[in-house]
Amino acid sequence: MLDGTVITCSAPVNIAVIKYWGKRDDELILPVNSSLSVTLHQDQLKTTTTIACSRDFQEDRIWINGREEDINQSRLQSCLREMRRLARKRSGDGDPAHGVAGLSHKVHICSVNNFPTAAGLASSASGYACLVYTLSRLFGVEGELSAVARQGSGSACRSMYGGFVQWKIGERADGKDSLAEQVQPETHWPELRVLVLVVNAQRKHIGSTSGMQTSVKTSSLLKHRAECLVSGQMDKMMRAINTKDFSAFGELTMQDSNQFHATCLDTYPPIFYLSDVSRQIINLVHCYNHHYREIKVAYTFDAGPNAVIFTLQEHLPEFVQVVRYFFPPESNEEQFLKGLSVDSVPVSESLKAAI
Ligand code: DP6
Repeated sequence: MLDGTVITCSAPVNIAVIKYWGKRDDELILPVNSSLSVTLHQDQLKTTTTIACSRDFQEDRIWINGREEDINQSRLQSCLREMRRLARKRSGDGDPAHGVAGLSHKVHICSVNNFPTAAGLASSASGYACLVYTLSRLFGVEGELSAVARQGSGSACRSMYGGFVQWKIGERADGKDSLAEQVQPETHWPELRVLVLVVNAQRKHIGSTSGMQTSVKTSSLLKHRAECLVSGQMDKMMRAINTKDFSAFGELTMQDSNQFHATCLDTYPPIFYLSDVSRQIINLVHCYNHHYREIKVAYTFDAGPNAVIFTLQEHLPEFVQVVRYFFPPESNEEQFLKGLSVDSVPVSESLKAAI
């Protein structure tokens, strides 16, 4: 790492289809169950991070979406500390290109999301994945880094890989085997599409971190889910992905989302992430699938009211029109929808009546 080096990288959001909810170790961020997600493409929802390093910087600093934030937050510190430790180790291993001197320089980090931050759209996942990856480029650190990203935000470890990614629960107390692993690459299922329906772009009222802490303390359903249910769901989900069986994939995705929100309701006091519009979207998807007697579309919701819809390319234009019909877009969204080229697809009267 040379004085004055500037590196820019981006990392996409991932959407969990088997959700992570609950930690067995809050410090190391070790989950109570394994989870599985789909990483979006680089040109969709993403974080872009630029890190500069200079001997002239007095202290480490960070700006997120143009606003300076507290660099001393413990999760940021964990990632910085761990990346510097790995860089020192590497430089100690005798690579002359990476002088230890540069490692004492402070860094300035500038991170920007191209979507609403902290609105249940996995901004912490892409944010920490991007931070760790950009630091790795700056410090010349290679190898498995999902365990470092995990210490920033659990779901971030899955954004270190593209395609379909599993975060394994791991067994060790030090968390060294609680890692993300690619199940299938991004090229595996090219027809699969993800549609994000932004119901509300405001910050969520209860963040994932505190929400899951209360769930771990109070929800017996969460305990049952983690100990008995997830492993079976995971096996079926892996099979559905490996065989590109959309019907099974969609059904498991919706069931897991519903189970996660049921554990939120079982938390005491209960946590409500879904809004009336979220529930209308859930009904719309079920009515649509029922009309065709086939699962063509699936929803999933994280810690917020926004819907993430999975479908196949062949069904996307019609489903977008159905959404537009029942939830007429505001004028600024029209422009965006034009980019999806869905205008020529009419919604049949029988479909309108069925929903
Ligand atoms: C509902 O990864 O944001 O999106 O580890 O406390 O930072 P922390 O939580 P976070 O939780 C994500 C929860 C979820 C489900 C998921 O992405 O698996």
